[in-house]
Amino acid sequence: MADATGKVARLLIDGVNEAIELPMYSGSEGPDVIDVGKLTGQGYFTYDPGFVSTASCDSEITYIDGDAGVLLHRGYPIEQLAEHSNFLELCYLLLNGELPSAAERDRFVDTIGHHTMVHEQLRAFFQGFRRDAHPMAIMCGVIGALSVFYHDSLDIDDLEHRRITAYRLIAKMPTLAAMSFKYSQGEPFIYPRNDLSYAENFLHMMFATPCEDYQVNPIIAKAMDRIFLLHADHEQNASTSTVRLAGSTGANPFACIAAGIAALWGPAHGGANEAVLNMLAEIGDEKNIDKYVAKAKDKNDPFRLMGFGHRVYKNYDPRAKVMQQTCHDVLEELGVEDNPTLRMAQRLEKIALEDEYFIEKKLYPNVDFYSGTILKAIGIPVEMFTVIFATGRTPGWIAHWNEMISSPYRIGRPRQLYRGPSKRDYVPMDKR
Ligand code: CMC
Repeated sequence: MADATGKVARLLIDGVNEAIELPMYSGSEGPDVIDVGKLTGQGYFTYDPGFVSTASCDSEITYIDGDAGVLLHRGYPIEQLAEHSNFLELCYLLLNGELPSAAERDRFVDTIGHHTMVHEQLRAFFQGFRRDAHPMAIMCGVIGALSVFYHDSLDIDDLEHRRITAYRLIAKMPTLAAMSFKYSQGEPFIYPRNDLSYAENFLHMMFATPCEDYQVNPIIAKAMDRIFLLHADHEQNASTSTVRLAGSTGANPFACIAAGIAALWGPAHGGANEAVLNMLAEIGDEKNIDKYVAKAKDKNDPFRLMGFGHRVYKNYDPRAKVMQQTCHDVLEELGVEDNPTLRMAQRLEKIALEDEYFIEKKLYPNVDFYSGTILKAIGIPVEMFTVIFATGRTPGWIAHWNEMISSPYRIGRPRQLYRGPSKRDYVPMDKR
């Protein structure tokens, strides 16, 4: 629980003489919060569609300062983690609160490696999907289905059960992600290889076939690891809040993560990386960029520039900066620096950053703007982009679910401003 500031907020309501006193709390960073939890006892609710001004929980995992463009995981800046750490070490940090010692890291990596296989019976689930099913649809199904295999460890009040579930989810996400891709290609599934790193193993399961091995390019593997790392957590975003809300009912963790995957799928959230590439394809040529920027600014046109804007960042997304550098490294390595898609993306970025509309509304490129370009260069099909986001976000979802379950929590149950009809009597059919 956050520290009380000693300050109170006073809410004066027209026609009511006495102000309602609301306690205030301070976190270790960020603005003070006003506790409105007792307002309902006074006969009022707060109204905040989209939860723009609402903190739904206490958390020690991730801090974002959207105005300054700061992102900290357990206090460590994302730029430092991207430069010096890797995805699995960050998973450990998110789950445990501290960086691991060398022995703890080795044990963690080894444990994840030994949970990468999925139950053979799970392979049969895939046959139920159409070959052209979107891989996110498959992921919602098969991650939820994992719970049927682990009846032995679904007691959410048992720390050991929660721990093994975290390992299983982090380890099996890339396996199931690659299987959803292989299924769409009509290719056989490739088993995980524990001698490879997390990112190498994922790329191997994606691109190897039983007829031909796939030599993982270390620069591509590093970029893949970085993409997972940069997506690992982002505090109370829509999918994480969905995981918490589902978890607050006592639902099992596989069901909660499946709910998070469903929430992530939308184009305003994790689906944006796929939408960026689709948008660039629609723009088609640099000469059309001005027309599309004008469309994005037109209030009567629903078109938005995908990969721009963020609910919290009103500055450059710090993940986008790291991603931009990675993007150049990958394209240089692959010898596709002169890629027309990247050229268009760079031109679009420049125009939008100099445009009064985007400056005034503080709309900067976000992480999805660059990740899509990198993934395309690596040869990952567009439909898989959001699946990769989901794989990266899994430790964040679990860390938040675990944080909630580990301390006293209540079922998440928002209220509403009801605007429907007031009570009226049922009208029989012959009187309507
Ligand atoms: N292009 C054009 N105008 C935009 C854009 C955009 N991408 N984003 C926001 N605006 C405008 C919007 O029309 C509104 O204008 P006005 O004040 O005149 O009505 C103003 O900026 C504020 O927008 P909002 O929709 O109220 O902001 P929000 O915080 O509710 O939405 C967002 C944030 C990310 C959903 C939105 O910026 C968006 O749709 N961006 C494109 C999709 C995208 O890239 N999403 C990925 C987000 S980052 C990854 C993640 O967290 O999942």
